[in-house]
Amino acid sequence: NQIFLGTFIHSVKLGELQYMHDTAVCVDKHGKIVAIEPQCDLSNVTEALCQKLSWDAHDLAITITKEGQFFFPGFIDTHIHAPQYPNVGIFGKSTLLDWLNKYTFPMEASLESLPKARRVYTSCVRRTLAHGTTTAAYYATIHVATTNLLADLCHAMGQRAFVGRVCMDSADVNPAYYRDESADESLSRTRASIAHIRNIDPSYALICPILTPRFAPSCTRDAMAQLGALRCSSGLPVQTHISENAAELALVKAMFPECGSYADVYDKYSLLGARTVLGHAIHLTDYEINLISERGAGVAHCPCSNSALTSGEAPVRRLLDAGVGVGLGTDVSGGYSASVLEAVRSAALVSNHRAMPMGKWAETPAEERERAKLSVEEVLHLATRGGAGVLGIADRVGGFEVGMEWDAQLVGLGLVDECPDECDMRDHGNVDVFGWEAWDERVAKWVFNGDDRNVKKVWVRGRLVHERK
Ligand code: GUN
Ligand code: ZN
Repeated sequence: NQIFLGTFIHSVKLGELQYMHDTAVCVDKHGKIVAIEPQCDLSNVTEALCQKLSWDAHDLAITITKEGQFFFPGFIDTHIHAPQYPNVGIFGKSTLLDWLNKYTFPMEASLESLPKARRVYTSCVRRTLAHGTTTAAYYATIHVATTNLLADLCHAMGQRAFVGRVCMDSADVNPAYYRDESADESLSRTRASIAHIRNIDPSYALICPILTPRFAPSCTRDAMAQLGALRCSSGLPVQTHISENAAELALVKAMFPECGSYADVYDKYSLLGARTVLGHAIHLTDYEINLISERGAGVAHCPCSNSALTSGEAPVRRLLDAGVGVGLGTDVSGGYSASVLEAVRSAALVSNHRAMPMGKWAETPAEERERAKLSVEEVLHLATRGGAGVLGIADRVGGFEVGMEWDAQLVGLGLVDECPDECDMRDHGNVDVFGWEAWDERVAKWVFNGDDRNVKKVWVRGRLVHERK
């Protein structure tokens, strides 16, 4: 059993952070939060809590925040391609379709190699944990053995993960060297990976398979129909891409002329519903946004990728106002960083750009509303509870509440004024707090100046999975 003491910050609803000081959070041996005691005397609260919970006070791990530190829910990366991790930061002047052919498919094809996959996936999981990512929705590759290895590594290193073997059986878009030979092969390989994950985590408590048709142009109608049927019979989540890039939209229109829109393609094959995570969702029509909202599907907003690949700016405010759940994704390696915090600040800045496109302010109240900037509180919500909602795990993670699981990061900022002379600047990276006393100001400093140097410890379901030495 564990007790965490000190300052806790989490999002309670879109746009509202709660700051809890002098608080004790009790986490049982299953990693579940069993009690939260606000405003207590931290110097002698543990004994009383142990009595209340019938815990042995001698068999207890206690973690207490120091000055300038706080506990924050672990970040949720709703869209990340683990096999593309070696390419992170490399995208040249490409846009989506040529980027896939030039950088992405060759790299993913090379991840058939077990030794290479072990190196790449270990680095990717270690790096994302170090950035405070406690849950990741991973696209793997078409290869069963190395997709299963990714699931094994997440399990061993303690990251909560959705792991998807990528389905891509169309001969139109996928290169001959990297695709499933048929819809049936696509499905049988997917089933093999699901069976492996069920074997390592029978209740999907931490590692869960996720059906992963890469995107409509990569899949035959037959494969999408079979995946849709599997979704309906299994209840498994789905992840795919939608409406990312203008050339991709034209391709979908040409390949699926019988469907009225991109979203209709997924809907037709029963792939649009609760726990469907749609990556990007930039150029959607009002009709599509309403359809996605009605079906209860969610969006992975990937601002770093959308800027890097010149894909566009997702209309996040419009999605939220239409009732669509939104989480954040790094989209490594369309995105240039494996850090969700980078996606958080990018989401804020991209929304600032949207507020004044072409140097012109909004002209009507509706336009003004649609372009309203996302606040620091709102983007942090997307990175935690928003992502949890999209993945269907909001009852378990994303905030600090009794009954939820302890997926958390201990964040430390540099209070330079109070540092002793020998204080090592590297301990707190770029964040120098100086006189900023209010916690909302400190959080803003963290969001815009922070990085993995501020992530001191990370827990998933109560297990310590990263510690910064
Ligand atoms: N669309 C289809 N595949 C991909 C991919 O790997 N990354 C991104 N950003 N978009 C895609
Ligand atoms: Zn992607």
